[in-house]
This record gives sequence, structure tokens and C-alpha cells, in this order.
Amino acid sequence: MIETGNTGRTWLLTGASSSYALRLTEQDELVHLHWGPRISLAAAEALAAAPELPFRAFESHLDGREEYPVEGGPRFVRPALSVRTPEVRGTEWAFAAASVDGDELRIGFTDSVHRLALTLHYRMRDDSDVVERWATVAHAGADGPPLELLRADAAAWSLPARDGWRLSRLHGRWAAESRLARAELTHGESVISSRRGHTGHQYLPWVALDADGAATEESGEVYGCALGWSGSWRISVQRLPDGLVQITGGAGYDDSGLLRLAPGESYTTPVFAGLWSGQGFGGASRAWHAWQLAHVIPDAHKPRPVLYNSWEATGFDISLDQQRALAERAAAMGVELFVVDDAWFGQRTSDRAGLGDWTANPDRFPGGLKPLADEVHGLGMQFGIWVEPEMVNADSDLYRAHPDWVQHFPGRARTEYRNQLVLNLARPDVQEYLWEQLDTLLSGTPVDYVKWDFNRCFTDAGWPGEEYPQKLWIEHVDALYALIDRLRAAHPSVAFESCSGGGGRIDLGILSRTDQVWTSDNTDPLDRLAIQEGFGHIHPARVMAAWVTDSPNHQLNGRVSSLRFRFVSAMAGVLGVGGDLTEWSEEELAEARSWVDLYKEIRPVVQYGALYRLREPRGGLSAVQYVHGEETVVLMWLEAQRYGERPPALRLRGLDPAATYTCLDTGTVHHGSALLHQGLHTELQGDLDARVLRLRRG
Ligand code: DGJ
Repeated sequence: MIETGNTGRTWLLTGASSSYALRLTEQDELVHLHWGPRISLAAAEALAAAPELPFRAFESHLDGREEYPVEGGPRFVRPALSVRTPEVRGTEWAFAAASVDGDELRIGFTDSVHRLALTLHYRMRDDSDVVERWATVAHAGADGPPLELLRADAAAWSLPARDGWRLSRLHGRWAAESRLARAELTHGESVISSRRGHTGHQYLPWVALDADGAATEESGEVYGCALGWSGSWRISVQRLPDGLVQITGGAGYDDSGLLRLAPGESYTTPVFAGLWSGQGFGGASRAWHAWQLAHVIPDAHKPRPVLYNSWEATGFDISLDQQRALAERAAAMGVELFVVDDAWFGQRTSDRAGLGDWTANPDRFPGGLKPLADEVHGLGMQFGIWVEPEMVNADSDLYRAHPDWVQHFPGRARTEYRNQLVLNLARPDVQEYLWEQLDTLLSGTPVDYVKWDFNRCFTDAGWPGEEYPQKLWIEHVDALYALIDRLRAAHPSVAFESCSGGGGRIDLGILSRTDQVWTSDNTDPLDRLAIQEGFGHIHPARVMAAWVTDSPNHQLNGRVSSLRFRFVSAMAGVLGVGGDLTEWSEEELAEARSWVDLYKEIRPVVQYGALYRLREPRGGLSAVQYVHGEETVVLMWLEAQRYGERPPALRLRGLDPAATYTCLDTGTVHHGSALLHQGLHTELQGDLDARVLRLRRG
């Protein structure tokens, strides 16, 4: 709901349990009033009427208070908007108009010198506490020089005055993504970013702040911000000299130039979403999840199937017979979606060749992929394939035909990673080639699922012959989004997975057009617990793919773990299996079948339930709980039992203390009050033990 104050210059947005208020001053300054628990319009207007701060030389009366600080005028904070023409740099705006359209507020400004039109967008839905913010910048002139957008952030968020703040972030690297780190926010600027052309393994584009480090999992105020952009990006958290905190975020890793706008052209930033929760970090996560399931993730109401993926089993050495053998075993195990990973196309017998040539390798699949797809369908499973459309190997028909289609600078080396180069997706001819290849592939083979990979960062992001080559950083991502959108529209029954060497492209932008993401190439079930814990701070289990692979874990660390531990770890998200099933014994296959059956029973609770992180995976006992209607599922893991001590009792959350809960395995009836207060004994013991507990109310 959006309310407008009497003067027409104060706005109050109200969601499920919080409000956001802003005001336009007589000088056309757009200042922040409130972000937090629900308030009335009268309270927002009273805040708007509060006396101005006293003037102080050397200080800005705007810094830390503005909704969208621009470069220029009496401001010294990092600007959200930086624009220049050859003669004038910076912005001086005048209010143009404001409008409310359903749950969206738009406030427009103009800069007469630049002939710039700037619109700030706010959306808060009735069922959520997430505020979606973005901006549109347009060159409103009919002629004249282009405007250079050095930077155009999506939004700037202002936090209320508090004594201090703690900053949480999700950091990592390949095979170790999304691990939670927390530290006091000191004066100055904390920046997380990607300068790699994709979201990156190094940070999920998300931050959370809690006042004085006082929030816990289930109590206290938490502010979160998350960016929906799958290219390079930056989120900057500033603690200003007076202690105020402002958070800006948008596309691009610096301020050196995003785009040039010719007269009539415009740029729309990605969404930078913000959330206030009064229910601690757990409450914030649950609110993020509910919003994504309701408003971001396509077809979120469709539960994700159990998949099998052949990558860890086969690498590049694949054949029709081998895939058939795996498919038969996967089907017998209850798998619902069989995915052929890398190496089915072109001359792709290693990572040295074939990327770019998206037709089946004739030696490996003489009749194309259709016969295998038909067999997989005959076994009762969906059929999926792996692609990496944005890349090319130098040893490919595509590169031999179009060496100029890759990002490169004239006269410079073309850096190869994994023997591959990045196609310049900003070029219309590249876009059309990929559309034709992929549309033909999906039209000619009954494919239900596409795993879309991206296995190297941008390095030599040049575009010879183009006047403003750096626009490719933005336009690559726009073209990627447009391609996926076009494919989804043409092939509506096909689901998409976003992968980038594991979790290198996970953000709200890609999640608005893909059905799930590959969380990490690290399939070690113990390492995964921390990776999954961090992931769950922002994204729901419904999109978090997790595979059970072989033991010892041959991809990474050689760790030996039981099938039980591996399954319970992977059951915390979208369950998949990725081991070499031809090497699994009959007993292992039978055990796996029973785990898959169990997962299917708990799937609605895991994929759609409210998540409670009961204990962190930091050694010893850890656990997560999902509550969905009358059903509760607890997944618990014991890393190591020390000194023969019994693991601590596990206290549950989110239950009704007055209700009883029946364990679906033993029939034992537990009182909600006891589960919440005393907890229950897990019966876990030894090293790497795990268990699934299912409770039903009543
Ligand atoms: C990286 C992905 O994360 C893996 O799962 C696999 O698809 C390989 N690429 C294939 O090259």
C-alpha cells in the first residue's frame, strides 16, 4: 500500500510488517524518513516536519539522508548517479512529477543542462517486507551530444541512527562459495563487488546489517539489501563521519563509464531490493525466501524434480551406451530428471575443443540426442542437457568462422581460461547465432531442462570498431537475459538452471528467469553444509541444487562419508545425484532409492517451508528445520562426536507450544512446548552422522 501525504510530497509505503517513508523538500531534495516497523502516515508527516539539521561548514546537510545522492552540489558521499557530457559533469535536478501505480511509486526529476530525465521507482507489495527499488535514466533531448553514464546505481538505502552496526556478507571462491562472515562496520567504506563480468563466486550480491551486532537468529532488527544483476556489480556500505549508514548498489564495478545515452535513449538499472525484519537473521531469510517464491522465481509453484547429472561420473568421456546405463540405474533409484552434462556436442572430447558448436557429436551420438532423450523419457524421466552458450574454444568451427566474435582488444593477447574465450554477446550477430543454435536444439530434441554454464571471467573485454566498447559489460548481460527470456517464451515447458563453475552466477536477476541454480562444484557433503547455510540467508531451498556424489569425494578432498550423510546433506535443497552409479553396489543403490523416496515425501516441506537454522555448521551438531503447514522436517548432522559426549539436545523453532507433534517414523508424540524449550536428543553419534526427523502436528 502506498499513501501520499497532504502536501503531495511525503510518501509512505507499507508492506506485511514494515514501512518505508520519504519526502521531497521545498528545495526538491528527496530525503529519507523511515525504514523499519510499520508507522502511520501521520507519523511519517511528523518526521517530515522535523527541524532541519544546523548548518556546519565542511559538512553536507544531505549526506546520509538522501534517497539517491547524485554527483554534484553539496554532497561528499559516494554518488549513486554520475553523469557527464564533454563540458559538464554531475547532476542538478528539479522535481518533475510523482505517480502511484498500484504498488509502485515513481518520482521523476529532470536536469535541464544535461536534458536528463531520472525516475526513481519503488515497489512494496502487500504480502512482503521487501522494497524493490530501481532507477531509469533517459537522455530526454531531441539532439545534441550523448550523455555518458559513469555510474547509475539502482538505489541508495539509508539506515536509522544507531550507536554502531555489524555487517554480514557471503564470501567465497570457486568450490567454497557463499560462506557467512560478520564484522563490525567501521567508519569509511566497505565494498563488495565483482569485476569479472558475471556475479562471481567471491560474493553473493547481498549484505545484512544489524544494529550494534545485537540481532540473533530469531530476534532483533536486521536490514538486508540484495542486487538483481548477473554481470559486474558493486555494493558499497558507507559509515559516514556522523555514524549514519548508506548503502548503494548497482551494475558495474567502478565509476569509469557504463553506457553512453544518445538523445532518446535510456537505461534502466537492475533492482536493488531492501528488506527490514524485526525477527533476526532467520526472519530476514524467511522474508527473502517468501518474496522470491511469490514474485521472482518463475514457476516457483512447481516443485523441482530429483535429478541425476553425469558430470562427476563421466567428465568428458561420454558415450550413448554409458549414458543409457546411468539412466537405467537413475530411473530405478527414483530419479525424475536425467541431465547429460558437458561433452555431448561438437568435437568436445576435452575442454580444449568444441564450445560454440551446439550440435551432437556424431561419433558419440550418431543419431543426435533424440534417441537418448526418447529412452530417458521411456524410463519415466525428464531429459536435460548442458550448454555453455556464451563461450567458444579456439578449436571450434564457430571460432574458425568468426574469430572476431570474441571479446578482445586489437593487438593484444586473447587470454584463455579453461582454453576458452568469451563471445561478445553485445553483438547482434552473436545474439542471433546463439538464438538459432539453441532454438534449433530445443526444437529438434525433446529437452525438458537446460543447465546453462559459464566457466570463465571476462578479461580482455574489448570490442574493436565499436565507439564505446565498454558498454559490452552491460549489454552482455542484457543479451543473456533477452536470450533466456526468448527461449523460455518459445519453449515454455523447458526449465533452466544457472551454473557458473558452481555458484558463480547466483543473484536475483538470473533467478527471475531460471528455475534453480547450481550452488557449488563442491559436492563434499560436509563442506556443503556451510555453503548451503550462507546461500539460505538470501535464497530458498527451492532453487538450491545439491548432489550426492561418490565417496571418497574424488573431485575435491578425498573425504569418506556414508551415503546417509551425503543424502541428508543434499536433501536440504533440490536433491540430485551425481555419482558414478555403475560403480555403486546393489545395497548402495537400494539405500539410495529409499533416500530418494524419503526426499519426495519431505520435498514440499523443504522446498516451500519456512527455514529455521537451528545450529550453525561449525563442528559438532548442526541442524536446519523447515515448517510447512502441519508438517515439520528437521535435517541434522553431527560432524564429530568428541570425548564420547552426547550431542546437545536440539531445540526446535517455529512450532506451537500448545500443540503436539507426532514423529512420523516412531509414532512418538512430542509436546510443542518441550520441543521448543527442552529440545530433543538427536541420537547421532560418531563422525559424520546424520538424520531426518519428520513431525506432523497433532
Ligand atoms: C562446471 C559446472 O559447475 C560442472 O557442474 C560441470 O557442468 C562442468 N562445468 C562441465 O564443464
